[in-house]
Amino acid sequence: MEVELSVKYMIVLGIRPDIINLHPIVKEMERRNCNYTIVHTGQHYSYFFDKLFFEQLNFPKPDYHLKVGSGTQAQQLASMVERFEKVLVKEKPDLVFSFSDANPALSGIVASKMGIKVAHLEAGMRSYDWRMPEEKNRRLMDSISDYLFTPTSGTKQNLLDEGIAPHKIFQVGKLIMDVLHNFRSQIDNNDIMDRLGVEKKEYFLVTAHRPENVGIRAPLRNILESLDELYKIYGKKVIFPIHPRTRASIKSFRLRVSDGIELMDPLGFLEFSKLEKNAFCCVTDSGTVQEDSCIFRVPCVTMRISTERSETVQVGSNIVAGLNKKYIIEAVRIMVNKRTNWKNPYGKPECAKKTMDVLEKHKKEILSPKTWWDSPKIKKSYSISSYVNKWKNPLMPDNTFG
Ligand code: UD1
Ligand code: UDP
Repeated sequence: MEVELSVKYMIVLGIRPDIINLHPIVKEMERRNCNYTIVHTGQHYSYFFDKLFFEQLNFPKPDYHLKVGSGTQAQQLASMVERFEKVLVKEKPDLVFSFSDANPALSGIVASKMGIKVAHLEAGMRSYDWRMPEEKNRRLMDSISDYLFTPTSGTKQNLLDEGIAPHKIFQVGKLIMDVLHNFRSQIDNNDIMDRLGVEKKEYFLVTAHRPENVGIRAPLRNILESLDELYKIYGKKVIFPIHPRTRASIKSFRLRVSDGIELMDPLGFLEFSKLEKNAFCCVTDSGTVQEDSCIFRVPCVTMRISTERSETVQVGSNIVAGLNKKYIIEAVRIMVNKRTNWKNPYGKPECAKKTMDVLEKHKKEILSPKTWWDSPKIKKSYSISSYVNKWKNPLMPDNTFG
């Protein structure tokens, strides 16, 4: 009689968007009665970045907490690697899930070095902006992962062009589609707009947290001045749930926040999503907000000089405006005056199901010893500029902080 072996999965999360995006994977695993363990690296720990999301999404309590906390890139990485290895030695999972591009994703490298298979969710996204720690994380994770789950045909092509073996790549769509679908009634029914006293399309929604934007005085000053200008031009409130790094920078750089800008602590997922869905325009440097606004058909202006979400620019839901006030204002003018009938590039809300279907199909392979001969081989030469042209704003000169 053949014994039915089950795969031992391990899910690693550590920051706000991990909790949000991995929720459908956990639910799908529960539905299939999978054997899984959750590890929290502890990179995000404040109530409004962490526990609030576990509560709102009814996310299961992690089995392990690595308490990595805040610090330099090297400190966060070093603590995570050392502590995560101990968990792997104890639990001996067959496959580790690593999500997207933040530091918790690098846990996959520890697993890979121990011969444990790694699934990278949201593989293939590229900004080619090497200032960002996330771009380094993306490239590292994609080159060592065994199963690469890509959201779109463009992200799949990025991997193929980098020589990743095609049999390791699976195009499954976006987890955030599942999340927004699963929580749509809770999003629609919460009372955040009443509490803030705002009406549909009568406010801007803003987030900014990237160190390359808010950790330096000039770009942060430009962001605040642009928001003030938007308030004056459109007479609409600027709702700005603010990241603690940004709040600290405003204080230490002694920058003025004008009256039309409403700063508040970061919001819960349900409240923030409702505000996104009803905003006049989202102005952001977030990755996920570019996707959410595209899905909600709300115009988006990205205050960065690059994006890894080039599909949003290609379908017309987003402009990468840079950090110069003139270009931010102009990008908002273009976006709020255009039709919002763009095509959603992220497929149907079935990403978690498709992902788990693939893994189930590869169960035997996951339970077998790792093969070593499918590392990336660069098959064709490719030009970075052809990728950058997918999202580059022709109005915006390179590297401008104005
Ligand atoms: C991290 C991710 C980024 C992601 C973002 C999501 C990396 C390299 N960056 O950036 O990709 O977009 O999360 O929100 O992994 N802090 C608190 N409370 C917390 C956590 C942080 O007050 O719970 C403060 C600390 O002062 C800390 C700073 O925020 O130094 C930055 O936190 P960190 O996790 O290092 O980076 P994020 O900007 O949040
Ligand atoms: N978000 C939230 N509350 C906020 C701001 C953002 O719940 O105050 C959610 C938002 O809906 C999105 C995710 O957090 O799903 C985006 O996270 P963030 O911008 O921090 O990270 P990124 O996507 O840039 O990695």
